[in-house]
Amino acid sequence: LKEPPLKVMISGAPASGKGTQCELIVKKFGLVHISTGDLLRAEVSSGTEIGNKAKEFMNAGKLVPDEIVTAMVTSRLSREDAKENGWLLDGYPRSFSQAQSLQSLKIIPDVYIVLDVPDEILIDRCVGRRLDPVTKKIYHVKNFPPETEEIKARLTTRPDDTEEKVKSRLEIYKKNADAILSTYSNIMKRIDGNHPKEVIFGEIDSILSQVLNDKEKKRKLGSSL
Ligand code: AP5
Repeated sequence: LKEPPLKVMISGAPASGKGTQCELIVKKFGLVHISTGDLLRAEVSSGTEIGNKAKEFMNAGKLVPDEIVTAMVTSRLSREDAKENGWLLDGYPRSFSQAQSLQSLKIIPDVYIVLDVPDEILIDRCVGRRLDPVTKKIYHVKNFPPETEEIKARLTTRPDDTEEKVKSRLEIYKKNADAILSTYSNIMKRIDGNHPKEVIFGEIDSILSQVLNDKEKKRKLGSSL
């Protein structure tokens, strides 16, 4: 019998390093990465109806209305690859009502990871962030500069990564954080995100390995009863 798939949520303020850690988690654990920010940006760049609706909210550093995002996430979660390989949900839920939507659909993670990073560092990380539109890799002008001149020339910045918009995103995050935490407090793991990315991943790796072990033990116990 195959191991039961892992279901992981990752949360944290804007630029706390969710996307960066997700790249590493996917590489090691093979989960399906579902990032609402990435899904929405893809809709915006293909000019879909969802994208056109979401664009103004995103560019202003505000949350996109729940009904748009929730429909997008639940349809992605119900696809075969996510059921088969497990999922890594990044950027959702972002409000109490989004958390309630998942609870009512019985979509419950095994673990809820929160990355903690001080505000002043978050702003520097956002303003210095650069994205590679070809490989989708996340860079930072100082922390993770691009490997070659060719990559450097094609890097882009996000329209919501100005200091002013980051502050608005951060405020919204703080306003909602506690209400979401109350839903997941029993499975929450807080991690200090103000370390080198490999150190943070080391912690996440051991948490996820432990969760997988526990799931496996439970499964064996269940099948021997
Ligand atoms: P989203 O894309 O989810 O943005 P966010 O939560 O603000 O998170 P970021 O993508 O900014 O940061 P991150 O934590 O992934 O950090 P990263 O790894 O890139 O959402 C964007 C918008 O979409 C929202 O504002 C909203 O409008 C809309 N939206 C999305 N979900 C929604 C929802 N559920 N409901 C409603 N609206 C929704 O790292 C940041 C930088 O730091 C990079 O440059 C990186 O290289 C660097 N860095 C990373 N780790 C380290 C480290 N350990 N040390 C030094 N530098 C580091």
